[in-house]
Amino acid sequence: MITVKGDILKIKTTYETSPNIALVKYWGKFDEEYILPLNSSTGITLSTEDLQTRTTITLTNKYKEIKFLLNGEPHPVSGRLKKILKFFEEKALAALGEELVPLQEGDNQETKRKTLKEFLNGDLSQLKLKIKSVNSFPTASGLASSASGLAALSVCLFDVYHMKEEYEFQRSVIARLGSGSASRSIYGGLVEWTGVPHQYLQKKFESKNNEIQLSEQEYEQLSKLCIAKQTHNESFFEDLDIFVVAYSFESKEVPSTSGMLQSTQTSELLKYRALNTAHVHIAGVKQAIEQKNYNELARLVRLDSNQFHAVCLDTTPPIFYLNDFSKNMINFIHQLDSALEYHVAYTFDAGPHAVLLVHKNHTNQVLRAIYEAFSITDMNSLSSRAQQTLKQAMESELPESIQKIIQTNKPKITTTPSYIIHTKVGKGPTKIC
Ligand code: ADE
Repeated sequence: MITVKGDILKIKTTYETSPNIALVKYWGKFDEEYILPLNSSTGITLSTEDLQTRTTITLTNKYKEIKFLLNGEPHPVSGRLKKILKFFEEKALAALGEELVPLQEGDNQETKRKTLKEFLNGDLSQLKLKIKSVNSFPTASGLASSASGLAALSVCLFDVYHMKEEYEFQRSVIARLGSGSASRSIYGGLVEWTGVPHQYLQKKFESKNNEIQLSEQEYEQLSKLCIAKQTHNESFFEDLDIFVVAYSFESKEVPSTSGMLQSTQTSELLKYRALNTAHVHIAGVKQAIEQKNYNELARLVRLDSNQFHAVCLDTTPPIFYLNDFSKNMINFIHQLDSALEYHVAYTFDAGPHAVLLVHKNHTNQVLRAIYEAFSITDMNSLSSRAQQTLKQAMESELPESIQKIIQTNKPKITTTPSYIIHTKVGKGPTKIC
């Protein structure tokens, strides 16, 4: 929305976005500059009702320089963000200058308006950005906060700069330049982000130092190809409940960007995965979702998460994102398999936190089993939706088979999660105002 008060002009927008959690993981870049992924990945965007980044961007002549506040604190404008902003200044600013602006408060269509360029006496460079972004969940601790944050930035910037539809595909490219997985966070439901075609991977892996020379034109083509697309909207997932079980709110020791670079340079398993398994897992995940085959979905999601962490271990020096809590959770979920006719999917990103996918018929039982086995005593360590779910779960007895699993596993479980969020698959970025 464009508003004018005296000499001050403001174009302002607010969006909410949420993390997209990969069910088939992205790990490794083909190219560091264009952020082209070695392998395709697919993931679900969580509901903004339960986890959200809320970003407000104002483009205004009120300030002399860009301002960026993250979680209430001034934040440096990174090289990646500068690259994104350059795109808007090059592609959008001139067109924005032709937009009409109201000349006074309460202006209506009949009043004569000026173009934005006329209002600024021809100097569009007077417009500076104010970015305010707040995450409702831990930042930089392995819960895809930067993906959600950069997706919010991308959609807000498209809005304030009034980007034309012809650039729609660029929303994904722009988010990708900020943070690879952000390209998946700009849509809801299940979102697939395409990796570079196999022939390029083969050439790269066969070359000395994994380096291949491509023309600018080839890079541009790959850049257009490696974008994210929604494959299944949120209505496919009405049966599915999700728990984000956060171990702690600490920042991770090895950031994803440097971790995946190390893996790309040293892991043999990463090459095998990029060439042979990631696309097979993606096809299987999509089929399982279409057929509502949740046990098969759980099998593939677990397999892919474990393979990703095996790649981390296969890296020199090895990277450990899983900790004792993660191992306790993996063991416990596998123990539950023997007591249940359904299987719970677990997946771990570049951090120790678990994301669990459960059919809604079993949600109450699973939350209660975790609550008891992991000795959680504080209701405040559950989100409000999780508290309601637990209250309902307490109204009936757990089946004996589950009680037995809890009793035998409880002494072996040495860790307690700090926070559990109950959520659903979401519909993607939401414009607030
Ligand atoms: N990195 C982590 N969270 C972010 C946010 N909300 N906006 C921009 N960058 C981020």
